[in-house]
Amino acid sequence: MIEGRGLTKYFDAGFLGDPSAAAVDSVDIHIGPGETLALVGESGCGKSTLGRMLLYLIHPTRGDVLFEGKNLAKMRGSELRALRWKFQIVSQHPDNALNPRWTVARSILEPFRIHSKRLNGRGMNGELERLIDLVGLEPEQAARYPHQLSGGELQRAVIARAIALDPAFIVCDEPTSMLDVSIQASIIRLLQERQKAIGCACLFITHDIQLARILGDRVAVMLGGRIVEEGEKILDHPLHPFTQRIVSPHGISQGNGLPEDCKIIPGACTYLPFCPRGTGRCHTLPEIQDYGDRRVSCHMVA
Ligand SMILES: Nc1ncnc2c1ncn2[C@@H]1O[C@H](COP(=O)(O)OP(=O)(O)OP(=O)(O)O)[C@@H](O)[C@H]1O
Ligand SMILES: [Mg+2]
Repeated sequence: MIEGRGLTKYFDAGFLGDPSAAAVDSVDIHIGPGETLALVGESGCGKSTLGRMLLYLIHPTRGDVLFEGKNLAKMRGSELRALRWKFQIVSQHPDNALNPRWTVARSILEPFRIHSKRLNGRGMNGELERLIDLVGLEPEQAARYPHQLSGGELQRAVIARAIALDPAFIVCDEPTSMLDVSIQASIIRLLQERQKAIGCACLFITHDIQLARILGDRVAVMLGGRIVEEGEKILDHPLHPFTQRIVSPHGISQGNGLPEDCKIIPGACTYLPFCPRGTGRCHTLPEIQDYGDRRVSCHMVA
């Protein structure tokens, strides 16, 4: 369904930055219809950049994005525009996602204004009723402006807009990280329920290992712009030393991540400065390889 091949992104490093550092480096990734891939990794490792490249909101420096086998780079502008509604994002900042000058109802219905052929005979009012009911909002709340809703209510409105046209691929980029703990579970349940009902592919980005374990049909672990381990049961039986670290009681979800001042060694395995098992071989970058039920990028495993 959605696939990234060799996805690489270099941002303009600016005056003080390191121009050789890729935000995302040679990532191969695919997500099937109805499948959720949970993407975990420390802050700054490239998760959002990868998600936005798959949505084609950020263009890759190298590599390709394929949707249903078709390379997005080879599509005409009109073809890409027609595809846009099939790709949606629910991000961590619901307050930036909706137009502050529009009522929430107008924002939820915006996709139908652009793609009026997809109204299914229900009309605008019918669609609004259907969508707010699906996400648990009241008509009176939909009539308000974004600043008049709570964070959780706003995120429900963002989800309503994202599912309006039954997307084929949805990126959930830490959708509950800015919300009160008391409503996080209900928003996650809502997203999971809708994704299963629509049968869309989902990339679920999170720092939360438990959430990744629960939501992910597969899990990918990212470090320094690369995927180091990916597979179904990798959080229960981790093989890569970094995956082992993040699932340990001292892992990232406990706020005990990698030391920030530790420099990555150019050309070497990204995890070498932190790795208890590193040897001379690890001064070359390991390719990600199939290994049993997963893919792993580690000389000591393969
Ligand atoms: N528009 C940009 N211009 C320059 N550098 C960027 C840009 N966006 C991201 N970066 C850099 O790319 C790297 C990856 O950023 P990204 O936002 O993808 O990380 P992340 O894993 O999503 O982090 P977090 O968990 O904190 O959201 C970071 O070093 C970041 O500073
Ligand atoms: Mg991010």
